[in-house]
Amino acid sequence: SQNIYILGIESSCDDTAASVIHNGNILSNVIASQKIHEEYGGVVPELASRAHQQNIVPVVDQALKKAGITKSQLHAIAFTRGPGLMGSLLVGTSFAKSLAFGLNIPLIDVNHMQAHILAHFINEAGYKKPPFPFLAMTISGGHTQIVKVSDYFDMKVLGETIDDAVGEAYDKSGKILGLGYPAGPEIDKRAKLGNPKAFKFTKPKVDGLNFSFSGLKTAILYFIQRETKANPNFIEENINDICASIQYTIIGILIDKLKLASKQTGIKHIAIGGGVSANSGIREALKKGEQKFGWTTYVPKFEFTTDNAAMIAIVGYLKYLKNDYAAFNVTASARLKI
Ligand code: KG4
Ligand code: ZN
Repeated sequence: SQNIYILGIESSCDDTAASVIHNGNILSNVIASQKIHEEYGGVVPELASRAHQQNIVPVVDQALKKAGITKSQLHAIAFTRGPGLMGSLLVGTSFAKSLAFGLNIPLIDVNHMQAHILAHFINEAGYKKPPFPFLAMTISGGHTQIVKVSDYFDMKVLGETIDDAVGEAYDKSGKILGLGYPAGPEIDKRAKLGNPKAFKFTKPKVDGLNFSFSGLKTAILYFIQRETKANPNFIEENINDICASIQYTIIGILIDKLKLASKQTGIKHIAIGGGVSANSGIREALKKGEQKFGWTTYVPKFEFTTDNAAMIAIVGYLKYLKNDYAAFNVTASARLKI
């Protein structure tokens, strides 16, 4: 049948999201972001779980309404099984289970990290889909991975962070500088106004394709402590240059690893995903890579890069076509691997 409607549900971190996909086309993509964490400067798991419980019913209702369909027209329910915060995952998992059970339709479990990558296969005018095999770099507040994607469900992690995620490096640097949370967009904005070579931060030495960002965070902290001791107005007077220098260092780390991955695998199709792919520096660097290294690069539409349920729905659709369903005793998995 060519008329498949699937509901996707995402609740792995601090966004409650639902989306309806009709074949490969997104009909609705609803997100309730949780403002509550801003005042804590990071996600508080207990509060996230409670907010998911409050948001999930209205978010799902809205997604169906915007898609112009009723529950009874759905062919399957797809949900994020992991990785993520256990308390958050449990809300989406149990909701999806009871809805699928009540409607007597298949339940489909989705790996959040695969979904960030497969978001590239949503039909969207003006966006091209990467051919297999390609390299995917997922960069967000929770993840930093380089994955070799040989087919929709044939993925191999080539490298990942051994400590903080790249978005965390942005957010923690922002905290040191007194910027709001999340600080990535603000640092990005200020970086465009500053000199990227004003201050030098050493890149971490990590073997192969793995990443490390915690050393950089510490280096920035000590640097700021030292400079503000000498000049209490150091941050204010140099904020754009500081941001530009941090961004230059982070983008350098990401691009170095992508270059190495491309060289090692011989693959020149490179896709990115996750909230940090909104960053202007990484986008520019990828464009340069097209000229310098012959890459073809793929950046999804913004609403499909940050945590969303459209990416869960597209994976649900791809799995539905293979009759790849979950058993009703499936459990959430905080550390689910690709
Ligand atoms: O994918 P996402 O919405 O949520 C997860 O963490 O899974 O990513 C959020 C992260 C935050 O760390 C935020 O600071 C970062 O993405 N971010 C950015 C930019 N926009 C969002 N980092 C750098 N530059 C940006 N323009
Ligand atoms: Zn994510």
